[in-house]
Amino acid sequence: MPRIAIVGATGAVGRECLALLDSGIVPVERVTPVGSARSVGRDLGAELALSLPVAPLVTVDDLDPRDVDVAVFCAGADVSLREAERLAAAGVLVVDNSSAFRMRADVPLVVPQVNPGALADRPVSHLVANPNCSTIQLVRALHPLHELATLESVVVATYQAASGGGLRGLEELAEGSRRVLDDPGARVEPGGRFGQPLPFSLVPEIGLQDDSGRTHEERKLVREPRKILGLPGLRVSATAVRVPVFHCHSEAVHVVLREPVTVEAVEKALTATPGLRVHTRSDTPSYPMPRTVFARPEDRALVHVGRIRVEPEDPRAVAVWVVADNLWVGAALNALQIVGLAMENGWLR
Ligand SMILES: NC(=O)c1ccc[n+]([C@@H]2O[C@H](COP(=O)([O-])OP(=O)(O)OC[C@H]3O[C@@H](n4cnc5c(N)ncnc54)[C@H](OP(=O)(O)O)[C@@H]3O)[C@@H](O)[C@H]2O)c1
Repeated sequence: MPRIAIVGATGAVGRECLALLDSGIVPVERVTPVGSARSVGRDLGAELALSLPVAPLVTVDDLDPRDVDVAVFCAGADVSLREAERLAAAGVLVVDNSSAFRMRADVPLVVPQVNPGALADRPVSHLVANPNCSTIQLVRALHPLHELATLESVVVATYQAASGGGLRGLEELAEGSRRVLDDPGARVEPGGRFGQPLPFSLVPEIGLQDDSGRTHEERKLVREPRKILGLPGLRVSATAVRVPVFHCHSEAVHVVLREPVTVEAVEKALTATPGLRVHTRSDTPSYPMPRTVFARPEDRALVHVGRIRVEPEDPRAVAVWVVADNLWVGAALNALQIVGLAMENGWLR
């Protein structure tokens, strides 16, 4: 069984990694939580009531590569850029949740349900990248549509939860919402995790805009699906919006396919896809919602697709509504499923 380090173990994604390991998602000999110097001395095993063997929390500097087989990085791109390659060079398999290495040719960008073949061989870099949270749920819904009738173009609008901004994002939404409820005239200052005040509002800018006006999040939604799906020419247009929802990202996805399809054929293709839960017109309601998806662990582990439509004017144009837990499907679960696949492929003892 592998020895796994979680770098950023105290954060929103890191804590979910620990909880999922505790639930037995992949066998583990021992977990080493890694944090910044301010977290040394914290007992995460006790804080999170974990029953798996948990080593004392250390800083990355104090993490001895000989003590770990796998390091899951969830501490932001700066920490990954500074520390991941040192561990990888020492032979540790690094699964990185940040955007630091995703587009590098020698680093596979993997969603195990979509492109497991990218992990057929252990990369020479010893690095595997976890895609952006919005990308993962998008490609998991797009892949069966591509298999059904070949994707020509994608237009996606995201409705992204505050947990995508980490623990601080969750706190800012909770505190700001309380202040506005207590005093509807209260001014919530711009800045913080979301750049603009999020409570009772929408922020249509996630990350910095480039010269073309695309934000950092939108660039990821354009580039990453092309790499994962192996479709370098796929046309993708994205608008990424932060919404005052605590957990689970939602997406309105519109695709044009090469061949005409029916709603029944689309529902059948999606229903046959492992890891998707399809909400059809005969369900009430016929769509998933963030709070209901977050309410049950079995739903948090799935990508939910509803509002399935084929445009009457163009049977090649399909629209769907996709909801998934960004902390599980979009981060911790995907990363640990990569570890599971690496074990299946015999890369780890
Ligand atoms: N949130 C999501 O939905 C989501 C989804 C996909 C990918 N990601 C990616 O996952 C990463 C973590 O996101 P998050 O939302 O979990 O953020 P978060 O809640 O802000 O947690 C950040 C973590 O980074 C740790 N950290 C900061 N500086 C460190 C250092 N020098 N050495 C070691 N650890 C350090 C913090 O540890 P201390 O508490 O000890 O300071 C904390 O555990 C980011 O790269 C993010 O882009 C997040």
